[in-house]
Amino acid sequence: MEKLIITGPTPLKGEVHINGAKNAAVAILPATLLFNGICTIDNLPNISDVKISCTILEQLGAKITWNKPNEITIDTRNITTTQAPLDLTSKFRASYYIIGAMLGRMGEIEVGMPGGCKLGARPIDQHIKGFELLGASVSLEKGTIHAKGKHLKGNNIYMDVVSVGATINVMLAAVLAEGTTVIDNAAKEPHIVDVANFLNTMGADIRGAGTDVIKINGVKKLEGNINYSVVPDQIEAGTFMLAAVATRGDLLIKNCITKHLDSVTAKILEIGGNVEDHGDSIRVWCKKRPTKANIKTLPHPGFPTDLQPQMGVVLSLADGTSIINESIWESRFQYTEELNKMGAKITAQGKTAVFEGVPKLYGAPVYSSDLRAGAALIIAGTAANGTTEVYNLEHIDRGYENIEEKFRSIGAKIERVKE
Ligand code: UD1
Repeated sequence: MEKLIITGPTPLKGEVHINGAKNAAVAILPATLLFNGICTIDNLPNISDVKISCTILEQLGAKITWNKPNEITIDTRNITTTQAPLDLTSKFRASYYIIGAMLGRMGEIEVGMPGGCKLGARPIDQHIKGFELLGASVSLEKGTIHAKGKHLKGNNIYMDVVSVGATINVMLAAVLAEGTTVIDNAAKEPHIVDVANFLNTMGADIRGAGTDVIKINGVKKLEGNINYSVVPDQIEAGTFMLAAVATRGDLLIKNCITKHLDSVTAKILEIGGNVEDHGDSIRVWCKKRPTKANIKTLPHPGFPTDLQPQMGVVLSLADGTSIINESIWESRFQYTEELNKMGAKITAQGKTAVFEGVPKLYGAPVYSSDLRAGAALIIAGTAANGTTEVYNLEHIDRGYENIEEKFRSIGAKIERVKE
């Protein structure tokens, strides 16, 4: 078992480079299945969710070559099976994108029920509704999903909830369907736009991604020999922005799209931090104790749920009492118990948590319950007095490339050790 040992407090200072977006990468990789050819993808984060996605593609018949640590070439000319490895697909959430992509490519697929962070109930009813409206049949049995539909036909699909996963999955299934599909009440996250851009580069006809109505005109096939660069990770950039504030540091966060970070920037300014927008980089610094604020997580362009735990660390150290209302996931406050072990005063009940700000946190052994909770605990350990040990690193490694090296390069005293 590995753990991180962090000694603080350290104000984080310097420059940090942001990788490609995990949530775009794990959709773009399956999207290559819609294409019968060779494509090269760069700015791909080298994280465990990406590596598992690649293994799943290989088991379906794709040939993958890692050209560099963040660039791969995928040859999808020889997809041979409609049976995805059940053990691997049930390891992470985004494996559900194999369904939309393989419905388009082969008209059939069997995958394991998707796994991923335990953030509360994570139904996939909107994905299934979308596939069925395109003419597929979907059955769930003994932990597997079997989807079948040789000749999908475009349709109007109104999403009952704003869902990132369902929007992308239905978009994937609709690319090669006959006729036009309209997804209404679609999610608008930056990675949805990125997946649509990737598919359009391959010859798809998708319009409106980034708004709540997406129109997909089905095409007969995708072709070419394409190169694509994954969009910078909005959540990784936001994690370092909030790390700068929590540790009262000064960071230049490079390779990000600052527009994607507007909701975070607004909150940082509200609590007394400073933000300077440099277009493809953003400087964040904070010299004094942040003040209280209330936050409600919302689908994009609202404050992202995936930055809620990192913001929670900032508010646990703020002057005054703050309230966070988590409107997306019902179990996203597990990290607050860990912060309380470090001296925070947080009371969480259901989807609301009250943060009575304390002037200091103190090092303690803490356990990451999910990916973003893990990032929050690293920030807390860097801001806290004394030594923090962070356990359950497998969650963090799913979504952050070289996280301890990045924190070390901006001054953190952090080490990964094997027990
Ligand atoms: C994606 C992100 C995750 C992020 C979340 C919200 C990936 C791989 N993961 O997850 O990091 O926290 O968006 O920004 O991109 N819902 C339903 N029925 C469905 C689908 C979703 O009721 O069929 C509900 C969910 O329970 C949740 C809400 O819709 O309350 C949003 O979920 P969704 O946007 O689908 O999240 P994911 O795509 O799983």
